[in-house]
Amino acid sequence: MTTSLTGRSFNSVLDFSSEEIMTVLKTAMALRKGDAPFGAAPLANKTLAMIFQKPSLRTRVSFETGMTKLGGHAIYLAPTDISIGKRETTEDIALVLSRYVDVIMARVFGHDIVEDLATHATVPVINGLSDFEHPCQILADLQTVLERKGHLDGINACYIGDGNNVAHSLMFGAARMGMNMTIICPKGFEPKAEVTKQAAAIGAETGAKITITPELSATEGADMLYADVWASMGQESEAAERRKVFEPYRIDAETMKRADDDAVILHCLPAHYGDEIDYDTSRLPNAAIFDQAENRMHAQSALILHLLQ
Ligand code: CP
Ligand code: NVA
Repeated sequence: MTTSLTGRSFNSVLDFSSEEIMTVLKTAMALRKGDAPFGAAPLANKTLAMIFQKPSLRTRVSFETGMTKLGGHAIYLAPTDISIGKRETTEDIALVLSRYVDVIMARVFGHDIVEDLATHATVPVINGLSDFEHPCQILADLQTVLERKGHLDGINACYIGDGNNVAHSLMFGAARMGMNMTIICPKGFEPKAEVTKQAAAIGAETGAKITITPELSATEGADMLYADVWASMGQESEAAERRKVFEPYRIDAETMKRADDDAVILHCLPAHYGDEIDYDTSRLPNAAIFDQAENRMHAQSALILHLLQ
């Protein structure tokens, strides 16, 4: 069966419509429940190539295990294995891998690399995180909110911290799904202006309000609170300077007083406890960070099932 998702790439949350995102989320929730919506071993003889320019726990293990569970296979290509763009061109890597595998996932620095891969590959390409977006993370995040709250539209979501790749994808995902998204960040660390503009334009159609503010009080009444590290991969040399600026931009007991009592707490992990989130808050019953990590596997397996359908 061929659907609108067959053969597509997923480099940005915006690559999919709200209906397509919901299709993937429904399959992901079915997989989490132990259902087999695509049969027993739907990825038998299918291979995923996983290119990494950066470290990973969740992305590597969730993609690889997801493929194994569905009867397929995954190949890990470490940063030093193929040295994308150095040992050979992105174009040649895409063309060669397309002769061997059925789908390519890449975790990269420059977003242009996943775009180049998708341009030249003849198989679907999935962005496993770039400096600009982390779309697979947001599929898992949306699944987690949907499981905890029963709906996405009208949810008041707050992200506290750096206007980074995760913030960008959250804004796109929220805009698509009619979820209000407030990004609370220090001045100078806002999401890219083009992202805010695009998300706001989509939100105007779906009913999602996109707000960027430095005010911590904006967590008032939040249904969902989200944190990510203050310094992303590649920004390690800025970590000490960033810690000074971001110090108030954390999820802790004070933040929880302002949010709804049953606000879902999310963190994409890895976490730096005591910085962007404190340990005790991360272990509250409202915190769903390990469901969220588990959902990476279900959401990505669902994604691959639909892309290869
Ligand atoms: N959240 C996430 O992408 O984790 P990893 O960096 O460990 O893959
Ligand atoms: N913003 C973080 C996300 C890690 C999953 C980074 O890019 O390092």
